[in-house]
Amino acid sequence: MSHAATLTPEVLTSLIALVREHTGIAMTARKSVLLERRLQPRLQALSLPSYQAYLERVSSDRDEVAHFIDLVTTNDTLFFRTPSIWDYFRDRYLPAWARAHPGGCLEVWSAAAASGEELYSIAMLCEQFRLQTPAFRYQILASDISQHILAAAKVGQYSGRSVERIRLSHPDLLRKYFTPSPYGLKVNEELRQHASFAQHNLLEALRPARQFDLVFLRNVLIYFDAGHQETVLRQARLSLKDEGRLILGESETIARLGTGYQFEFPMIYKAGAA
Ligand SMILES: C[S@@+](CC[C@H](N)C(=O)[O-])C[C@H]1O[C@@H](n2cnc3c(N)ncnc32)[C@H](O)[C@@H]1O
Repeated sequence: MSHAATLTPEVLTSLIALVREHTGIAMTARKSVLLERRLQPRLQALSLPSYQAYLERVSSDRDEVAHFIDLVTTNDTLFFRTPSIWDYFRDRYLPAWARAHPGGCLEVWSAAAASGEELYSIAMLCEQFRLQTPAFRYQILASDISQHILAAAKVGQYSGRSVERIRLSHPDLLRKYFTPSPYGLKVNEELRQHASFAQHNLLEALRPARQFDLVFLRNVLIYFDAGHQETVLRQARLSLKDEGRLILGESETIARLGTGYQFEFPMIYKAGAA
């Protein structure tokens, strides 16, 4: 029965190839326990006897591919993750942008948005900024390859670690922009009305094509090998205005990659020559 299924080295190799094919994520055989733990409940739900049978299902059933992507992606995120980025955004970026674009609409892309904490962190700071600069407008696109996690971002309902963290770091914003709901706290419409959502694979061109002032591309490059990182960064550049900025995660650097981005501050890059 499926609960006793074991993952053979051959099937593991094929599953790792399938993860790469559908997401670009580079896994090694050391991830076998992780893959087993994540896929095993799905084998049971589908009453499949083995990982080989699951492999065949994913290879032949397009609908199962979406479940597979949901299961193999890691969606950890937090509100105001990496405080220095948010200090930069609030204290430097927003005032400078508004001075340069009076009455304009800031276009931000939260790429690999996971469950939306980054998206709503951006929105809260933009709302706060609007208090002093009423003519300021903004729009945020949130995208992710996982449909399941993107659906959670759209709902914008949070509990557990996510809420605990923002309760400690920004209690005033929590009170102001969230409302109690049956399953925790739900983000207010005031924030959500500035957001749009799209399922998107970062290895591909964004459709429809758009150009943003700011792209948050954080804590996702780490899952790719150098070749795929370059592809993702090239695609992101096509979605950035010439004076745009790219923001990466704490453990990510593009210093060794052949991209046109120019270092501005730690984790923050100017778009550079297209
Ligand atoms: C660890 S989360 C990062 C969330 C957020 N950016 C942050 O820094 O807190 C990584 C996200 O990248 C998404 N992801 C992985 N591969 C992707 C791909 N090829 N295209 C788009 N999103 C991808 C995953 O589904 C996951 O939600």
